[in-house]
Amino acid sequence: MSTEGEIASEESHELHRALGPWQLVSLGIGAIIGAGIFVITGHAAAAYAGPGVVISFVVAGTGCLFAGLCYAEFASMIPVAGSAYTYTYATMGKFLAWIIGWNLVLEYMAAASTVAVGWSGYFVELLSQMGVTIPTQFSSAPIAMTTFRDVTLTGSFVNVPAMAVVAMASTMLVVGIRASARFNAAMVAIKLFVVVLVIGFGLPLIKWTNLTPFIPPNMGTWGQFGWSGVFRATGVIFFAYIGFDAVSVAAQEARNPQRDMPIGILGSLILCTILYILMSFVMTGLAPYMTLNVPHPVFVAINAAGPQLAWLGVLVNVGAVVGLASVVLVLLLGQSRIFYAMSRDGLIPPVYSRIHPQFRTPWLGTIVTGTIAAILAAIVPLGILGELVSIGTLLAFVIVCVSTLVLRRRAPEAVRPFRTPAVWLVAPLGIAMCLFMMAFLPIDTWLRLVVWTIIGLLIFGFYGFKHGKESKLILAKQAAE
Ligand code: ALA
Repeated sequence: MSTEGEIASEESHELHRALGPWQLVSLGIGAIIGAGIFVITGHAAAAYAGPGVVISFVVAGTGCLFAGLCYAEFASMIPVAGSAYTYTYATMGKFLAWIIGWNLVLEYMAAASTVAVGWSGYFVELLSQMGVTIPTQFSSAPIAMTTFRDVTLTGSFVNVPAMAVVAMASTMLVVGIRASARFNAAMVAIKLFVVVLVIGFGLPLIKWTNLTPFIPPNMGTWGQFGWSGVFRATGVIFFAYIGFDAVSVAAQEARNPQRDMPIGILGSLILCTILYILMSFVMTGLAPYMTLNVPHPVFVAINAAGPQLAWLGVLVNVGAVVGLASVVLVLLLGQSRIFYAMSRDGLIPPVYSRIHPQFRTPWLGTIVTGTIAAILAAIVPLGILGELVSIGTLLAFVIVCVSTLVLRRRAPEAVRPFRTPAVWLVAPLGIAMCLFMMAFLPIDTWLRLVVWTIIGLLIFGFYGFKHGKESKLILAKQAAE
């Protein structure tokens, strides 16, 4: 794999190189459009920003674009499995790589569980429209938790549909990357179709009265409407953008990663940013923002448009069910590849990097990942997981932007098939915007991040420190030659 002058590693090519540029863009969209736009946007508009949530999407999208440009540079330079984890290994060594890998577990595995819980909500609703009822005890979490001290039992047992969607996605991923990518492409086409229908048919029907005032005045509490509300909503809807970096996780399965990684990452991110801005504008334009604090805000917005759009209601629910399933699939794919890379480096046990002889997928790691994600999805409520996922991901983005600058200094001559434009401006802006979004998340989320980090440090102390190899990444001396 190591072309001259490039940063290379000793990874072998056991994974199947099956993905072209369109499949990579589709992988990105598969991971991005999901619970963020279909569920969380309604809450962000109703509780924090009103129609100003559109501005939140612009701000969060811009921050992600800065981080995405740094990701693209790395992904084209170091096209092996593992994404941000691998980049940190290359630039900052084993310990920080572990910290980032541990945070990516939040971004991928915990996010897959979160979206599976959102999927369960839409699925149960869709079934009930068809006259089939799943009892609440078997379709919601047994615990509710708002703060560390406030944990209550809900009377439910487990969230069966959430477990089921994780199990289905894991099975697909074991069977093969090509089959998974094909299935993902079909699901992406359906959800894009639904999103475009909502925008296309919704735009002409928006009522300007719903959009006035565009930023409702602050209610006296910081974060409740006004500009502080818009910025708090930015941290909340950031969840909607998570996943564009999943493209880079599959670098080792891309046919031409140097060229196609930047296309996959930036293509999917830019397309989704445009769709999100339009979609949030349509949602808050069709329905008064305070009515959107429901598990199915897109459905509510469509209903508010009146009888003309009644036909679109069922399609929206189908689009959400299909769309959220693809997010679960791609996030679990990402997690299994990050574990694969960490295991190859000795930071976690070798079982995670065992490749199936026929399917050529890290099958055992995928099954272990799927099992843990299914258990999380079965018992933990959506809100807690969602914010933890966001803060962990933002931290990962900060480290990627920092790593880009570090590598520019340490290896200025290394070949960069894609160079982040104006990197000394773009990367610092990415860092600043991600830290800014983190700052707006509640203190309890920060505490959970601290607890998560302590658990990670203990595992590193007992396992990774001893077994982890020193970084094998080598800088080719092309410049000197
Ligand atoms: N961005 C993904 C979603 O919104 C995680 O579901």
